[in-house]
Amino acid sequence: RKPVRISPSILAADFAKLGEEVENVARAGADFIHVDVMDGHFVPNISFGPAVTKSVRGYTDLPFDCHLMISPVDPYIAEFADAGADIITVHQEAGPHLHRSLQLIKSFGVKAGVSLNPSTPASTLEHVMDEVDLILVMSVNPGFGGQKFISSQLDKIRTLRAMIDASGRDIDLEVDGGINAETAPLVIEAGADLLVAGSAVFKGGPDQYAANINAVLGRT
Ligand code: DX5
Ligand code: ZN
Repeated sequence: RKPVRISPSILAADFAKLGEEVENVARAGADFIHVDVMDGHFVPNISFGPAVTKSVRGYTDLPFDCHLMISPVDPYIAEFADAGADIITVHQEAGPHLHRSLQLIKSFGVKAGVSLNPSTPASTLEHVMDEVDLILVMSVNPGFGGQKFISSQLDKIRTLRAMIDASGRDIDLEVDGGINAETAPLVIEAGADLLVAGSAVFKGGPDQYAANINAVLGRT
């Protein structure tokens, strides 16, 4: 198993100082920067798009993990690739042509991820295991930070861990929503190796980010 890594969600950062917040969280020990893109249509909230992503991209060398909660998604993939995304994750539920979306992402030389809403089963990914570089399990209903972890997702994480191991491919298993020092050990035990955390990392201001990251990862 790979070491567990953390992808802080800048949805919980101070939007007025987004570049500085990216620098702060990178300095505090982030492994990736998680960029939550919401369109007010696929999810009931609006965050930011490719222009903001591109503006903050220069503030760190860490990989940008772009979680697109938008539908349709294919028309925007080129723009996120151009904005400097290293991973582009689309939702399984975003449209009828998931396989095409994954191929489109990879055509730009970017890693391709798929996210599953809490009600979507692991089996929906059975026929894209050859295409996918990252699987993102939503452990809250997407749209907002600061929600409570849905523990029924632990079984899905276990199922996906077995599917990934059986594939023999290097696929990251990421979990997003309600991750903190209490829930992180549960998802790690179930097989996750990449943790998204928003409120648990950005609480208390920049002086706390390193301690917050260590707490989520169980480092003392
Ligand atoms: C929810 C987003 C998450 C969210 C996580 O739609 O995808 O990344 O910001 O926030 P916390 O960690 O506060 O649950
Ligand atoms: Zn996210």
